Amino acid sequence: MHWKIKASLQKILHFTKIGDKLNHIPATLKKNYHKNVMIYQTHECLRKFDETTLTFTEDSKKTALEIGTGYSLISPVVLYLLGFDKIITVDISNDSSIKTFQKQIQHLENEGFLDKISARGKFCSTEIKEKIQQLQSFQTLEELLQFCHITYIPKYTLEAIENVSTSFDYICSQVVFEHIPPEFLQQLFTKMKVWLTEDGFAVHTINFIDHFANPGFFQDKNISEFNFLKYADKTWNFWAGNDIAYTNRLSYLYYLELCEANNLSVIEFKGENYRTHNPLSETEIHPDVVKKYKSLKSVEDVCKFQRGTLIFKK
Ligand SMILES: C[S@@+](CC[C@H](N)C(=O)[O-])C[C@H]1O[C@@H](n2cnc3c(N)ncnc32)[C@H](O)[C@@H]1O
Repeated sequence: MHWKIKASLQKILHFTKIGDKLNHIPATLKKNYHKNVMIYQTHECLRKFDETTLTFTEDSKKTALEIGTGYSLISPVVLYLLGFDKIITVDISNDSSIKTFQKQIQHLENEGFLDKISARGKFCSTEIKEKIQQLQSFQTLEELLQFCHITYIPKYTLEAIENVSTSFDYICSQVVFEHIPPEFLQQLFTKMKVWLTEDGFAVHTINFIDHFANPGFFQDKNISEFNFLKYADKTWNFWAGNDIAYTNRLSYLYYLELCEANNLSVIEFKGENYRTHNPLSETEIHPDVVKKYKSLKSVEDVCKFQRGTLIFKK
């Protein structure tokens, strides 16, 4: 289906107060949706944490910040099961609920994650199993958050984070940064420089592709996954400048520039291409896209990776 059909529907939906929730419904109708979300969130949370050398000891307390909670609380709960003493998870929307959590947590012990969590974390498998059984019994979000020492801040501000903590051993995000405008990304990177402890790690997985090329009923199979880089800012804002469809059209190089500008020490950037790669040629990439960068060795590099994980320290 042509991407402009999905874009038009999202534009209409965004005028309704529940547009984002309606947009999310088709995904939840898939068979095994909640089990698959639990597997994905747990796997990705452990994969990112494995990029750090953080360890847990009895006498040191560790604090984590997750940027972009989304619909699932599995990731902050896995951070708790790993051994973080305090977890803050923030989002601009308020989409997490105890009902969704109940549908997802019931699958955690069946899927062989207990040993993986205990191998990397503070608790043994038996302790984790007991904790999961308690987690399965909670009937309210408050009970769950209190038990796991999680502070959930929907519709957050940077000040709201700092009212809870200004120091983090671990800061992570999963496919969130591409939804953040460059101006706010700059503020976030400046804050991360201040917030990270000396031994702390930030690990962020970012998706760099045009979301209208994502699989699903509305997928446009005839476009490159970098199609959105062909358009002027003004044109792209017309089609996708709303809170449901917004992506910033920035590649991994922009995040590396942000690290450099904030004197953050990049440990590694792991770029991936997880589907057929159809990069654009230099002439197809709009000058508005190119001018977002301080310097580009080669313009085509903005299409080099579809997804990646950026690991940095203070
Ligand atoms: C693709 S979802 C990913 C959610 C979750 N991390 C996951 O893996 O399922 C992107 C999320 O980023 C959130 N988001 C957008 N702008 C944000 C911002 N400035 N700060 C934090 N979260 C933001 C959205 O509300 C949405 O929940």
